[in-house]
Amino acid sequence: STYALILAGGSGTRFWPLSRNSRPKQLLNLFGDDTLLQQTIDRLDGLVPKENILILTNSQQEAAVREVASMLPAENIFAEPAKRDTAPAVALGIGLVATRDPDATMLVLPADQLIKDTEAYHSVMRDAITTAEKADGLVTIGIKPTWPCSSYGYIERGSRASIPGLAVENPAAEVKRFREKPSTDLAETFLARGGFCWNAGMFVWSLPTVIRELSTHAPELAHFVSEIRRSKDIVATVNAQFPKLTPISIDYALMEQASRVLNIEATFDWDDVGSWLSVAKYLDTVGDNNQVNTPVTEIDSENNIVFSASKGSHISLLGVDDLIVVQTDDAILIANRHQADAIKKLSNKLPPEL
Ligand code: GDD
Ligand code: MG
Repeated sequence: STYALILAGGSGTRFWPLSRNSRPKQLLNLFGDDTLLQQTIDRLDGLVPKENILILTNSQQEAAVREVASMLPAENIFAEPAKRDTAPAVALGIGLVATRDPDATMLVLPADQLIKDTEAYHSVMRDAITTAEKADGLVTIGIKPTWPCSSYGYIERGSRASIPGLAVENPAAEVKRFREKPSTDLAETFLARGGFCWNAGMFVWSLPTVIRELSTHAPELAHFVSEIRRSKDIVATVNAQFPKLTPISIDYALMEQASRVLNIEATFDWDDVGSWLSVAKYLDTVGDNNQVNTPVTEIDSENNIVFSASKGSHISLLGVDDLIVVQTDDAILIANRHQADAIKKLSNKLPPEL
């Protein structure tokens, strides 16, 4: 059967003052309606049954995650006992799924992306599932790159994969190389050379395949998976073993090393909402390119981003350009929009209660 593991334990510091340690990007109401985590769960409707959707988070965010994911069985939500990045989290997920169905096909999904075309998403994921069932490889989803971003993984696509007995709309390519977060210079050479796509951060694999790849390339994680599978008290095993695991992301620990990686091109829209600048693209425009989510009066002001989390708040701009203004009940951010990526530095300097 098909399982989905949603990774919802990352920390969000680029959206301060809206994001806090207990409330990272995936738990924010950035786009008016639902949180990104809520959308990630809803997007699986018709693809993965609710009882097969697992969420991993940490204890700081657990209460908020449980609230959003109240439609899932309570036992499908786990808080990791320590923060160890995504490789240990994925291994824990693999172990948990293996105790339910050792032959399962599994989707690993980030919780913090904006994808609107659910139909195209289902079609791509169905092809990825079929491919993972038929081919002995780890399936990735590729996004057409538009600039040399150094915070994504880059996937070099090779020839079309030959997979006997497989008929899908969107065939996979063999991956020549998976390169996590290259420098901007290297990313530029990748784009100039062509044949590269961004890693969407979603993985699809069958348990026997991924467990074999872990045994070869990440034995510490393979060992942890087998401890979970053998355990009579999974919570005790996880509490004892998980904090000892090396903190590393799945991209470095497994995807860069794996023996066989496949790639399917995404046909859906994809935005990993990296900063206030990405949020601005989805807000209303007032006057001369001011992107706002709240009533704004402006004179002689352009290219500002104005976001309020306080209902009914009215913000006025007079003769200011290129600002990010964010208001919450207990804090206000006024930043230069050219420093949107540096907001995470600011959040490190703040008093702990913020
Ligand atoms: N449970 C859990 N535990 N989840 C975590 C943890 C953890 O310790 N750390 C991060 N996550 C969650 C995040 O909340 C997010 O949903 C997902 O795992 C990915 O982690 P990020 O930290 O956001 O990864 P990234 O954005 O730097 O890079 C990944 O995503 C890119 C696309 O957005 C990589 O897979 C890149 O290759 C990829 O291009
Ligand atoms: Mg991310």
